[in-house]
Amino acid sequence: MIHYMKLGKVPRKPHTAFYEDGKLLMEHCHTREGFEGAYSILYYRVPPTDENAVEKLAIPGFCPFEPLAEQPLYRRHIMTGELKLKGDFLDARRVLLFNADVQMSMVKPTESSQRFFSNGDGEELYFVYKGSGRVESLFGVLPFRERDYVLIPRGTPYRIHWEGENPEFFVFEGTGFIDIPTEFRNRHGQITDYAPYSHRDFRVPETLLAHSEADHGKSPFKLVVKRADVLTVHQHEHFPYDVAGWDGCVYPYAFNIHDYQPKTGLVHLPPTIHTTFAGNNFVVCSFVPRKVDYAEGSIPCPYGHASVHMDEILFYVDGNFTSRRGIDTGSISLHPAGIPHGPHPGTYEKSIGTDRTSELAVMCDTYKQLKLTTVAHDIEDKDYHLTWVAKEGGGIDVPGAR
Ligand SMILES: [Fe+2]
Repeated sequence: MIHYMKLGKVPRKPHTAFYEDGKLLMEHCHTREGFEGAYSILYYRVPPTDENAVEKLAIPGFCPFEPLAEQPLYRRHIMTGELKLKGDFLDARRVLLFNADVQMSMVKPTESSQRFFSNGDGEELYFVYKGSGRVESLFGVLPFRERDYVLIPRGTPYRIHWEGENPEFFVFEGTGFIDIPTEFRNRHGQITDYAPYSHRDFRVPETLLAHSEADHGKSPFKLVVKRADVLTVHQHEHFPYDVAGWDGCVYPYAFNIHDYQPKTGLVHLPPTIHTTFAGNNFVVCSFVPRKVDYAEGSIPCPYGHASVHMDEILFYVDGNFTSRRGIDTGSISLHPAGIPHGPHPGTYEKSIGTDRTSELAVMCDTYKQLKLTTVAHDIEDKDYHLTWVAKEGGGIDVPGAR
């Protein structure tokens, strides 16, 4: 939830008769936390309950995914550029990392889709690594562009459509809410003036969704639902996203990472300063091009650290990554709790005296241990853990690395 909004027509009072062309519309409450949390109220032209068939579906690697059987503790580097996928935004989705609070996936669709998807397990936070297009959902049409975050609330039927270059996404699926951190809001719910963004930075659905046979096909209309890590396909007689209007506080929204206003200090500030979204037991942070620490003698490169309660992943998007060698755009590093990590040899010294960084990266810190899937293991740089020491002499032996 960012703020209250309204799209299309709604009656003056909720739960009262509302007609369009003499026909009574069906009110539909989309609620969270039972009836205690944020909600939206929609007005359907045809009730969305007209299903005529339900069947099971499996998309191996997405739902279900296969956990890596053994995961010795070492630093990991997953090269998502090596992941070759095809199909629509569901067929071309693979879970790479997961714990009980969050699943992280790459989505590399090659085909647009007429089917819709609703995630009954949690919120989805897409990061648009490549491409642009639109998210079509029950709440309307939300255009997205490269480097956007797109938040899709739990239980929202949507599909991803684009023209031109195939998009690529890095997706966080959180079992709890994903929202902007509470400390960035005042007691009235307004985003504070010292937050790294303002209400004006968040984009919302612009128009209601209208059925088009060319875009959405003919009856029956298929909705894929994920619940308890099982997919079912629900078949509807009528286009189930034909609403006359809605209002409320639940809807998808977009935020571009370049609208994030980073803070810098006299000396290096901890990664917490880059927090953008908060989930249940995890945070998502944005590292954007910025001026760096400016006190005389300050070292802009991140210091080595052992964040003993959290696993940390970085998804490298663009620019120079001052603290890492061997990392490319599209790389994911996993630096787990239990062992320290820090800049590669040479990068620490090299950063002294620099005044800007061009890095663009998305970070996620989790309280619970992140596990790899077999798909992630297949595209790992299995020497990564060894890259902090000289190769001469053979380095160190990492069980399971080779
Ligand atoms: Fe770190």
